[in-house]
Amino acid sequence: MRNIQLPDVGVTMALVANLQASLPDFGRIIDQCGHPGPALRKLGLVHWENGRFDTAARSFEAALSLTPRDPDLWRDLASVYSGSDRDEQALTAIRTSLEINPYNAQSWQTLASVADRLDDIETAEDAYRRTAALNPEAAAAHLGLGLLMFRKKLYQEALAAVRTSIAIDPVNGLAHYALGHLCFIASEFADCARAFDEAARLTLPLDAAARQKRARATTFQAMIEGRVEEALRDYNEIAGEDHEDLDIIKRDAFSVLSASGHLEAAAEIGRMRLAEKPDDPVRRYLLDAVLGRSMTAAPAEYIETYFDQFAPQFDNKLLATLQYDGPRQMTNLVARHRTGFKHMLDLGCGTGLAAAELLPLGPTLTGVDISSGMLAEAANRGGYTELVKSEAVAYLKATPNRFDLIFAADSLIYFGDLGPLLRAAAGAMVQGGLFALSIEVTAGDGFTLQPSGRFAHSLEYLKTAADDFTILETMESDIRLEAGRPVAGLYVIMERR
Ligand SMILES: C[S@@+](CC[C@H](N)C(=O)[O-])C[C@H]1O[C@@H](n2cnc3c(N)ncnc32)[C@H](O)[C@@H]1O
Repeated sequence: MRNIQLPDVGVTMALVANLQASLPDFGRIIDQCGHPGPALRKLGLVHWENGRFDTAARSFEAALSLTPRDPDLWRDLASVYSGSDRDEQALTAIRTSLEINPYNAQSWQTLASVADRLDDIETAEDAYRRTAALNPEAAAAHLGLGLLMFRKKLYQEALAAVRTSIAIDPVNGLAHYALGHLCFIASEFADCARAFDEAARLTLPLDAAARQKRARATTFQAMIEGRVEEALRDYNEIAGEDHEDLDIIKRDAFSVLSASGHLEAAAEIGRMRLAEKPDDPVRRYLLDAVLGRSMTAAPAEYIETYFDQFAPQFDNKLLATLQYDGPRQMTNLVARHRTGFKHMLDLGCGTGLAAAELLPLGPTLTGVDISSGMLAEAANRGGYTELVKSEAVAYLKATPNRFDLIFAADSLIYFGDLGPLLRAAAGAMVQGGLFALSIEVTAGDGFTLQPSGRFAHSLEYLKTAADDFTILETMESDIRLEAGRPVAGLYVIMERR
């Protein structure tokens, strides 16, 4: 209790005498309670209710000098400290309360709120969970946990917790507001629009971002229900002054609906978009993917155009929104097997996220990518000995270099048939060199083109295709998020035979 100074008992008794003299009601309360401690607490509660946090804190401190083992008083003190931004003291007070009585849900809830305010996520999460375990009806704890999971980008958990809080307390506007955003991320568009409507009914009008999401959700839901043209026609009216460019709505509807498995609606929009720009390789390929056309690799023209357009937003989207951490995780895996490489190749290096991770493993790093937009970002980031614009297989076949590490993070997903690439890689490596790669995983023994335009491979398939390599280790991991859900992936370390 280093940061909380309770008054001496003598000082408190002098205060009590003073209060008795100046407040006749106070004397009566002491008589009713039989002790000045509870009377000081009652006084503190009145000050608290009236927003006089400092005076309330002094009353609780005085009461505690008389009954220092009262856990409820410590909790009250924590709450008023917190109300007057004395967070560190609030933390001490609530921890003291919980040391005395660890079975009080309200005290855990107070700890959770204080820790949350201090951005101590771990303590807050634990305290919310303990609150809910002690009192499953504590709506505020479920909501607090939901909002915290939202911040941690664990969207499915966040959604479940916020839904639980609403089931207990259906009139909390903030909970419906959070539900609206979470349902949008999870592509639950009907629920999203309903939640925003409820939030607006219960609390203040929605902000512009929420209004835009509500309009999108209403539009996307109508598309899912088979009313694509009508939805596009009505969009401007639904969105009103918040309306966005209709081409952007179509583009995003296509990607959101394909990612969330609403392929018929996505295909209808895809056809519409291709009819508007029949020569666009991105629109053509992604429509083919949604239509389930079989292919052995994404066309080079698609990859180049797509990543050139995407390059400036790539880092922000992948790191902040999609929780992508492939380069770091794969490098850690490589380092468990070997370090001190002579010449490393980052194949499909993109914006160069892997460079800083790989450089401690060896002095020479070549980056190869087909997209000049991505290579420009990689050059800005730095760390590469050389950057080469080339298609991956063509580069591997032509290069005189012999690499002892090939690193392909999130780039084999653009190849279906891995045979040509793995054979060319084997030819460009020294014997005993390592090949680190990531794949999205599918069941069975083959590969499949997904509606996202990326391929997924089975481990069985990889084993067969990689006959120049020995698989040393595989690690299951969520590669990134898609429609708010983790995409199952596999990191693989292979050795050139
Ligand atoms: C999803 S990004 C991953 C970038 C980087 N490896 C990372 O982990 O951040 C895929 C990259 O692979 C490149 N790529 C895909 N197919 C390719 C190919 N056939 N030849 C060369 N680069 C390719 C793309 O241009 C893009 O930059």
